Amino acid sequence: MRVGLTYDLRDHYLAAGYSAEETAEFDSVETIDAIDGALQRLGFTTDRIGTVRQLAQRQVAGERWDLVFNLAEGLKGVGREAQVPALLDAYDIPYTFSDPLVMAVGLHKGMAKRVVRDSGVPTAPFAVVETLADVGAVALPYPLFAKPIAEGTGKGVTTASRVASPTALRKVCRQLLGRFRQPVLVESFLPGREFTVGVTGSGASATAVAVMEVVLTERAEAGVYSYVNKEECESRIVYRIVDDADGRAAVEVALAAWRALGCRDGGRVDLRQDAQGQAMFLEVNPLAGLHPTHSDLPIMCTLAGISYDALIGRIVESALRRSGLGARVAAE
Ligand SMILES: Nc1ncnc2c1ncn2[C@@H]1O[C@H](COP(=O)(O)OP(=O)(O)O)[C@@H](O)[C@H]1O
Ligand SMILES: [Mg+2]
Repeated sequence: MRVGLTYDLRDHYLAAGYSAEETAEFDSVETIDAIDGALQRLGFTTDRIGTVRQLAQRQVAGERWDLVFNLAEGLKGVGREAQVPALLDAYDIPYTFSDPLVMAVGLHKGMAKRVVRDSGVPTAPFAVVETLADVGAVALPYPLFAKPIAEGTGKGVTTASRVASPTALRKVCRQLLGRFRQPVLVESFLPGREFTVGVTGSGASATAVAVMEVVLTERAEAGVYSYVNKEECESRIVYRIVDDADGRAAVEVALAAWRALGCRDGGRVDLRQDAQGQAMFLEVNPLAGLHPTHSDLPIMCTLAGISYDALIGRIVESALRRSGLGARVAAE
Protein backbone atom coordinates (compact mmCIF):
# COMPACT_ATOMS: atom_id res chain seq x y z
CA MET A 1 0.00 0.00 0.00
CA ARG A 2 1.41 3.38 -1.05
CA VAL A 3 1.10 6.09 1.59
CA GLY A 4 1.84 9.72 0.73
CA LEU A 5 2.95 12.23 3.38
CA THR A 6 1.78 15.84 3.35
CA TYR A 7 3.46 18.34 5.67
CA ASP A 8 4.89 21.85 6.03
CA LEU A 9 8.60 21.78 6.80
CA ARG A 10 9.79 24.44 9.20
CA ASP A 11 13.20 24.74 7.50
CA HIS A 12 11.55 25.37 4.15
CA TYR A 13 9.70 28.42 5.51
CA LEU A 14 12.63 29.67 7.65
CA ALA A 15 14.78 29.64 4.50
CA ALA A 16 12.05 31.63 2.73
CA GLY A 17 12.35 34.35 5.40
CA TYR A 18 9.51 33.53 7.81
CA SER A 19 10.22 34.00 11.54
CA ALA A 20 10.69 31.35 14.23
CA GLU A 21 7.24 32.14 15.67
CA GLU A 22 5.48 32.17 12.28
CA THR A 23 6.83 28.69 11.60
CA ALA A 24 6.45 27.33 15.14
CA GLU A 25 3.67 24.91 14.21
CA PHE A 26 5.48 23.47 11.23
CA ASP A 27 7.33 20.21 11.28
CA SER A 28 11.02 19.45 11.52
CA VAL A 29 12.73 16.98 9.19
CA GLU A 30 13.12 14.73 12.25
CA THR A 31 9.33 14.44 12.58
CA ILE A 32 8.86 13.54 8.91
CA ASP A 33 11.74 11.03 9.12
CA ALA A 34 10.18 9.48 12.23
CA ILE A 35 6.72 9.06 10.69
CA ASP A 36 8.15 7.85 7.38
CA GLY A 37 10.28 5.29 9.26
CA ALA A 38 7.34 4.10 11.35
CA LEU A 39 5.12 3.71 8.27
CA GLN A 40 7.82 1.67 6.53
CA ARG A 41 8.27 -0.55 9.57
CA LEU A 42 4.49 -1.06 9.56
CA GLY A 43 4.81 -2.40 6.03
CA PHE A 44 3.84 0.59 3.88
CA THR A 45 5.60 2.08 0.87
CA THR A 46 5.95 5.81 1.52
CA ASP A 47 6.18 8.87 -0.67
CA ARG A 48 6.98 12.37 0.66
CA ILE A 49 4.64 14.82 -1.04
CA GLY A 50 5.08 18.00 1.05
CA THR A 51 2.86 21.09 1.06
CA VAL A 52 -0.66 21.64 -0.27
CA ARG A 53 0.81 23.23 -3.41
CA GLN A 54 3.10 20.29 -4.06
CA LEU A 55 0.13 17.96 -3.53
CA ALA A 56 -2.00 20.00 -5.95
CA GLN A 57 0.65 19.83 -8.67
CA ARG A 58 1.04 16.10 -8.37
CA GLN A 59 -2.69 15.43 -8.24
CA VAL A 60 -3.27 17.51 -11.37
CA ALA A 61 -0.46 15.56 -13.03
CA GLY A 62 -2.47 12.41 -12.36
CA GLU A 63 -0.69 10.91 -9.32
CA ARG A 64 -2.71 9.05 -6.70
CA TRP A 65 -2.02 7.37 -3.34
CA ASP A 66 -3.87 4.63 -1.46
CA LEU A 67 -3.76 6.79 1.67
CA VAL A 68 -2.23 10.12 2.64
CA PHE A 69 -0.78 10.66 6.12
CA ASN A 70 -1.60 14.33 6.51
CA LEU A 71 0.36 16.64 8.81
CA ALA A 72 0.04 19.83 6.76
CA GLU A 73 -0.82 22.85 8.91
CA GLY A 74 -1.06 25.24 5.97
CA LEU A 75 0.20 28.81 5.91
CA LYS A 76 -2.71 31.10 5.24
CA GLY A 77 -6.32 31.63 6.17
CA VAL A 78 -8.81 30.18 8.62
CA GLY A 79 -9.03 27.09 6.44
CA ARG A 80 -5.29 26.48 6.39
CA GLU A 81 -5.52 23.08 8.11
CA ALA A 82 -8.53 22.18 5.97
CA GLN A 83 -6.81 22.76 2.62
CA VAL A 84 -5.09 19.38 2.23
CA PRO A 85 -8.12 17.36 3.42
CA ALA A 86 -10.39 19.29 1.00
CA LEU A 87 -8.01 18.70 -1.91
CA LEU A 88 -7.77 15.00 -1.08
CA ASP A 89 -11.57 14.75 -0.86
CA ALA A 90 -11.78 16.36 -4.31
CA TYR A 91 -9.79 13.46 -5.75
CA ASP A 92 -11.36 10.83 -3.49
CA ILE A 93 -8.09 9.92 -1.78
CA PRO A 94 -8.40 8.62 1.80
CA TYR A 95 -6.32 10.38 4.44
CA THR A 96 -5.54 10.31 8.14
CA PHE A 97 -7.08 12.72 10.64
CA SER A 98 -10.07 15.02 10.50
CA ASP A 99 -12.12 16.32 7.58
CA PRO A 100 -12.08 19.97 6.40
CA LEU A 101 -15.00 21.02 8.59
CA VAL A 102 -13.40 19.73 11.79
CA MET A 103 -10.01 21.17 10.86
CA ALA A 104 -11.48 24.65 10.33
CA VAL A 105 -13.68 24.58 13.44
CA GLY A 106 -10.84 23.16 15.53
CA LEU A 107 -8.49 25.93 14.47
CA HIS A 108 -10.99 28.58 15.56
CA LYS A 109 -11.14 28.20 19.34
CA GLY A 110 -14.32 30.29 19.64
CA MET A 111 -16.22 28.15 17.10
CA ALA A 112 -14.92 24.97 18.69
CA LYS A 113 -16.12 26.16 22.12
CA ARG A 114 -19.57 26.95 20.69
CA VAL A 115 -19.93 23.41 19.30
CA VAL A 116 -18.63 21.86 22.49
CA ARG A 117 -20.81 24.03 24.74
CA ASP A 118 -23.89 23.30 22.62
CA SER A 119 -23.22 19.59 23.18
CA GLY A 120 -23.26 20.08 26.93
CA VAL A 121 -19.50 19.67 27.39
CA PRO A 122 -18.02 22.00 30.06
CA THR A 123 -15.99 24.90 28.71
CA ALA A 124 -15.27 28.29 30.30
CA PRO A 125 -17.61 31.24 29.60
CA PHE A 126 -16.09 33.43 26.90
CA ALA A 127 -16.36 36.47 24.68
CA VAL A 128 -14.83 37.19 21.28
CA VAL A 129 -13.09 40.55 20.87
CA GLU A 130 -12.86 41.50 17.19
CA THR A 131 -11.97 45.16 17.66
CA LEU A 132 -10.96 47.23 20.69
CA ALA A 133 -14.51 48.58 20.80
CA ASP A 134 -15.69 45.09 21.88
CA VAL A 135 -13.61 45.15 25.09
CA GLY A 136 -16.14 47.36 26.91
CA ALA A 137 -18.88 44.80 26.25
CA VAL A 138 -17.01 41.94 27.95
CA ALA A 139 -19.23 41.18 30.92
CA LEU A 140 -17.32 38.30 32.51
CA PRO A 141 -15.94 38.32 36.06
CA TYR A 142 -12.17 38.80 36.45
CA PRO A 143 -9.57 37.36 36.30
CA LEU A 144 -9.81 36.62 32.58
CA PHE A 145 -7.50 35.02 30.04
CA ALA A 146 -6.90 36.44 26.55
CA LYS A 147 -5.33 34.61 23.60
CA PRO A 148 -5.41 34.71 19.78
CA ILE A 149 -8.49 32.86 18.55
CA ALA A 150 -6.80 30.75 15.89
CA GLU A 151 -3.20 30.02 16.80
CA GLY A 152 -1.44 27.06 18.36
CA THR A 153 1.82 26.13 20.10
CA GLY A 154 1.22 28.77 22.75
CA LYS A 155 1.58 31.63 20.27
CA GLY A 156 0.44 34.89 21.88
CA VAL A 157 0.22 33.20 25.29
CA THR A 158 2.41 34.74 28.03
CA THR A 159 2.03 35.62 31.71
CA ALA A 160 0.32 38.84 30.49
CA SER A 161 -2.53 36.71 29.09
CA ARG A 162 -4.06 36.51 32.57
CA VAL A 163 -5.68 39.87 33.29
CA ALA A 164 -7.27 41.17 36.47
CA SER A 165 -8.81 44.45 35.29
CA PRO A 166 -10.52 46.05 32.28
CA THR A 167 -7.43 48.23 31.76
CA ALA A 168 -5.16 45.19 31.56
CA LEU A 169 -7.64 43.43 29.26
CA ARG A 170 -7.71 46.38 26.89
CA LYS A 171 -3.90 46.47 26.84
CA VAL A 172 -3.46 42.78 26.04
CA CYS A 173 -6.25 42.87 23.43
CA ARG A 174 -4.62 45.83 21.71
CA GLN A 175 -1.33 43.95 21.55
CA LEU A 176 -2.86 40.68 20.34
CA LEU A 177 -5.13 42.29 17.73
CA GLY A 178 -2.20 44.26 16.34
CA ARG A 179 0.24 41.41 16.33
CA PHE A 180 -1.87 38.48 15.16
CA ARG A 181 -4.48 40.26 12.98
CA GLN A 182 -7.31 38.05 14.20
CA PRO A 183 -9.94 38.19 16.98
CA VAL A 184 -8.97 37.60 20.61
CA LEU A 185 -10.68 34.91 22.65
CA VAL A 186 -11.36 36.15 26.18
CA GLU A 187 -12.43 33.54 28.72
CA SER A 188 -12.61 33.02 32.45
CA PHE A 189 -9.19 32.30 33.90
CA LEU A 190 -9.03 28.64 34.93
CA PRO A 191 -6.76 28.32 37.98
CA GLY A 192 -6.71 24.53 38.38
CA ARG A 193 -4.67 21.58 37.17
CA GLU A 194 -3.87 21.40 33.45
CA PHE A 195 -4.33 18.19 31.49
CA THR A 196 -3.88 17.11 27.93
CA VAL A 197 -5.64 13.96 26.81
CA GLY A 198 -4.31 11.93 23.88
CA VAL A 199 -7.03 10.28 21.83
CA THR A 200 -6.93 7.71 19.03
CA GLY A 201 -9.83 6.47 16.94
CA SER A 202 -13.03 8.11 15.77
CA GLY A 203 -16.59 8.47 17.04
CA ALA A 204 -17.83 5.75 19.37
CA SER A 205 -14.56 3.82 19.05
CA ALA A 206 -12.36 6.75 20.11
CA THR A 207 -10.34 6.00 23.22
CA ALA A 208 -7.93 7.93 25.39
CA VAL A 209 -4.34 6.72 25.06
CA ALA A 210 -3.36 8.61 28.17
CA VAL A 211 -3.99 11.71 30.22
CA MET A 212 -0.99 13.80 31.04
CA GLU A 213 -0.71 16.60 33.55
CA VAL A 214 1.36 19.59 32.48
CA VAL A 215 3.31 20.75 35.52
CA LEU A 216 5.25 24.00 35.29
CA THR A 217 8.59 23.96 37.11
CA GLU A 218 10.10 27.02 38.79
CA ARG A 219 12.16 27.57 35.60
CA ALA A 220 8.93 28.05 33.61
CA GLU A 221 7.11 31.26 32.82
CA ALA A 222 4.57 31.27 35.68
CA GLY A 223 0.99 30.06 35.42
CA VAL A 224 0.61 29.28 31.71
CA TYR A 225 1.77 26.68 29.21
CA SER A 226 3.06 29.51 27.02
CA TYR A 227 4.99 29.69 23.75
CA VAL A 228 8.32 30.01 25.57
CA ASN A 229 7.49 27.15 27.94
CA LYS A 230 6.50 24.93 25.00
CA GLU A 231 9.59 25.73 22.94
CA GLU A 232 11.82 24.94 25.93
CA CYS A 233 9.63 22.25 27.42
CA GLU A 234 12.55 19.91 28.14
CA SER A 235 13.90 22.26 30.83
CA ARG A 236 10.75 24.05 32.00
CA ILE A 237 7.94 21.50 32.12
CA VAL A 238 7.38 18.23 33.91
CA TYR A 239 4.89 15.93 32.23
CA ARG A 240 3.28 13.28 34.31
CA ILE A 241 0.80 10.58 33.44
CA VAL A 242 -2.03 10.74 35.91
CA ASP A 243 -4.45 8.07 36.99
CA ASP A 244 -6.52 9.78 39.64
CA ALA A 245 -10.14 10.94 39.84
CA ASP A 246 -9.33 14.37 38.37
CA GLY A 247 -7.49 12.76 35.45
CA ARG A 248 -10.34 10.35 34.76
CA ALA A 249 -12.84 13.21 34.82
CA ALA A 250 -10.66 15.09 32.31
CA VAL A 251 -10.70 12.03 30.02
CA GLU A 252 -14.52 11.97 30.05
CA VAL A 253 -14.72 15.65 29.10
CA ALA A 254 -12.05 15.19 26.41
CA LEU A 255 -13.79 12.21 24.78
CA ALA A 256 -17.15 13.99 24.85
CA ALA A 257 -15.56 17.01 23.12
CA TRP A 258 -13.74 14.77 20.60
CA ARG A 259 -17.02 13.10 19.63
CA ALA A 260 -19.07 16.33 19.64
CA LEU A 261 -16.62 17.91 17.22
CA GLY A 262 -16.33 14.80 15.02
CA CYS A 263 -12.54 14.43 15.29
CA ARG A 264 -10.94 11.38 13.70
CA ASP A 265 -8.00 8.97 14.06
CA GLY A 266 -5.84 10.77 16.61
CA GLY A 267 -5.08 14.02 18.36
CA ARG A 268 -5.27 15.79 21.70
CA VAL A 269 -7.72 17.71 23.81
CA ASP A 270 -6.38 20.35 26.23
CA LEU A 271 -8.22 21.05 29.47
CA ARG A 272 -7.89 23.04 32.68
CA GLN A 273 -9.83 22.85 35.89
CA ASP A 274 -11.91 25.75 37.12
CA ALA A 275 -11.84 26.95 40.73
CA GLN A 276 -14.26 24.14 41.69
CA GLY A 277 -12.04 21.46 40.19
CA GLN A 278 -14.26 20.82 37.15
CA ALA A 279 -12.23 19.95 34.02
CA MET A 280 -13.08 22.42 31.26
CA PHE A 281 -12.44 22.03 27.53
CA LEU A 282 -9.79 24.54 26.33
CA GLU A 283 -9.13 23.46 22.78
CA VAL A 284 -8.80 20.47 20.49
CA ASN A 285 -5.77 19.62 18.39
CA PRO A 286 -6.99 17.52 15.45
CA LEU A 287 -3.48 17.81 13.95
CA ALA A 288 -1.40 17.21 17.06
CA GLY A 289 2.39 17.49 16.82
CA LEU A 290 4.12 14.15 16.20
CA HIS A 291 7.77 14.87 16.99
CA PRO A 292 8.86 11.69 18.81
CA THR A 293 10.35 13.44 21.85
CA HIS A 294 9.18 17.07 21.68
CA SER A 295 5.43 16.82 20.97
CA ASP A 296 2.84 16.17 23.69
CA LEU A 297 1.07 13.19 22.09
CA PRO A 298 4.20 11.06 21.51
CA ILE A 299 5.57 12.18 24.90
CA MET A 300 2.47 10.91 26.70
CA CYS A 301 2.45 7.69 24.68
CA THR A 302 6.06 7.04 25.67
CA LEU A 303 5.20 7.67 29.32
CA ALA A 304 2.20 5.34 28.99
CA GLY A 305 4.31 2.57 27.43
CA ILE A 306 2.96 2.96 23.88
CA SER A 307 5.77 3.02 21.31
CA TYR A 308 5.96 5.63 18.57
CA ASP A 309 5.37 2.97 15.91
CA ALA A 310 2.31 1.72 17.80
CA LEU A 311 0.90 5.27 17.93
CA ILE A 312 1.37 5.76 14.18
CA GLY A 313 -0.10 2.28 13.65
CA ARG A 314 -3.24 3.15 15.64
CA ILE A 315 -3.76 6.36 13.67
CA VAL A 316 -3.37 4.62 10.29
CA GLU A 317 -5.53 1.71 11.39
CA SER A 318 -8.35 4.10 12.32
CA ALA A 319 -8.07 5.92 8.96
CA LEU A 320 -8.05 2.65 7.00
CA ARG A 321 -11.04 1.28 8.89
CA ARG A 322 -13.09 4.46 8.28
CA SER A 323 -12.13 4.45 4.62
CA GLY A 324 -13.23 0.83 4.14
CA LEU A 325 -9.67 -0.23 3.35
CA GLY A 326 -9.47 -2.71 6.22
CA ALA A 327 -7.12 -2.36 9.12
CA ARG A 328 -4.19 -4.53 8.19
CA VAL A 329 -1.42 -2.83 10.10
CA ALA A 330 1.47 -4.83 11.54
CA ALA A 331 0.86 -5.82 15.15
CA GLU A 332 1.92 -3.40 17.89
N1 LIG B 1 -8.94 30.11 30.21
C1 LIG B 1 -7.69 29.82 30.58
N2 LIG B 1 -7.32 29.88 31.87
C2 LIG B 1 -6.05 29.58 32.26
N3 LIG B 1 -5.07 29.22 31.43
C3 LIG B 1 -5.38 29.15 30.11
C4 LIG B 1 -6.69 29.42 29.61
N4 LIG B 1 -6.68 29.25 28.27
C5 LIG B 1 -5.42 28.89 27.95
N5 LIG B 1 -4.63 28.81 29.05
C6 LIG B 1 -3.19 28.47 29.11
O1 LIG B 1 -2.61 28.77 27.83
C7 LIG B 1 -2.12 27.58 27.22
C8 LIG B 1 -2.34 27.62 25.73
O2 LIG B 1 -3.73 27.68 25.46
P1 LIG B 1 -4.41 26.77 24.38
O3 LIG B 1 -5.82 27.23 24.19
O4 LIG B 1 -4.22 25.33 24.70
O5 LIG B 1 -3.62 27.21 23.07
P2 LIG B 1 -2.46 26.55 22.18
O6 LIG B 1 -3.16 26.28 20.88
O7 LIG B 1 -1.45 27.63 22.06
O8 LIG B 1 -1.98 25.30 22.86
C9 LIG B 1 -2.87 26.45 27.91
O9 LIG B 1 -2.14 25.26 27.81
C10 LIG B 1 -3.00 27.00 29.34
O10 LIG B 1 -1.79 26.84 30.08
MG1 LIG C 1 -3.08 23.84 23.66
